[in-house]
Amino acid sequence: MLSKKALGVSPSPTMAIEDKAKTMRSQGIDVIGFGAGEPDFDTPPHIREAAIKAINEGHTRYTPASGTLELKEAICHKLKSDNGLDYNPGQIVVSNGAKHSLFNVLAALLNPGDEVLIPVPYWVSNPELVKLNDGVPVAVETSEKNRLKASVEDLEKHRTAKTKALILNSPCNPSGQVYNEDELKAIADFCIKNNIYVIADEIYEKLIYDDTSHYSIASFNKQIKDLTIVVNGVSKTYAMTGWRIGYTASTTEIAKVMNTIQSQITSGPNSIAQRAAVTALQGSQECVEEMRLAFDKRRKYMCDRINNIPNLEALVPKGTFYLFINLSGALGKSFQGQNIENGDDFARQLLESKKVAIVPGSGFGAPNYVRMAFATSMEHIVEGLERMETFVDELE
Ligand SMILES: Cc1ncc(COP(=O)(O)O)c(C=O)c1O
Repeated sequence: MLSKKALGVSPSPTMAIEDKAKTMRSQGIDVIGFGAGEPDFDTPPHIREAAIKAINEGHTRYTPASGTLELKEAICHKLKSDNGLDYNPGQIVVSNGAKHSLFNVLAALLNPGDEVLIPVPYWVSNPELVKLNDGVPVAVETSEKNRLKASVEDLEKHRTAKTKALILNSPCNPSGQVYNEDELKAIADFCIKNNIYVIADEIYEKLIYDDTSHYSIASFNKQIKDLTIVVNGVSKTYAMTGWRIGYTASTTEIAKVMNTIQSQITSGPNSIAQRAAVTALQGSQECVEEMRLAFDKRRKYMCDRINNIPNLEALVPKGTFYLFINLSGALGKSFQGQNIENGDDFARQLLESKKVAIVPGSGFGAPNYVRMAFATSMEHIVEGLERMETFVDELE
């Protein structure tokens, strides 16, 4: 008998489409992919060079379990200058990507049966990470009226005596929505009043558009700062998804527990990637703006095109590189005699018939939606949307 806990964890439903797209590509089929949750850009040259230098200078040994002092200092500096947050290196834990950071936070906080509020739509891994740590994920429904962001009323509906934490992802994958200052202040008051930890996943903070500002919930006052664990990393901002560097900032008490957990499971993150991350944080930030501008151009084009396709409704993303599309108008129709009841049907039929891979919303807790990443070239975007338009046109 294998572990009941392990068997209770769902595999990522996004993988099913991705696997199918990969198989089709290996058969020589021209599939256009909008699935990837990573920038299509290469890691900027100065960061790559820092890694090569790190190898040649012998930075190839174990580092402290929670990361090098040099990187923690660079992170503290970033948190101060970008987010107005004062932390010392003893409050930082560097891990193997922000996903690992999230796992460590939940391992440090949860006792069996503790409930964690997760606004819908959520990043696919969040409920599974909670379950792996013996917690109970509690999906908090939101409304399009509130741009799929959780209000205090939404959260209050699901609060119980067992509520331990809230996972707040802003900018949000998959909705692309960003909580504004007032919304965050109201949520901060709710969490302080009810003694609820906030796991603030800010990994997309630099990918924001129009006149949107990113606020770190921990920055409002000491009470909320003490309850918040900031989660961030270099993956999305610096096109460094493969380098696996994420980090947390929290109270020293929580950081110590996470450090102990990590020291027994993985030891410190990759020494070379840590050196590269220092350069990413301390070097020129021009590359970040260049990538952001490219994403913004694609975002505008995709939004316009999709919202001109009858029965599809994209929520204009204010951040991230995802477009979240409400399919309600297209559901109940059929394609070549096969019913389209939800995002899974839509995504499967689109892939099979038009060779366009998109991610169904079921894994994000929103089965009537699909997610499309604009982390692919403009050329692919134009061709992919043309195919999608034809597909929707053929629905009966
Ligand atoms: C919302 C969110 N949090 C965390 C992560 C994990 O990032 P990392 O690659 O640093 O593990 C992702 C990656 O897709 C994400 O979308």
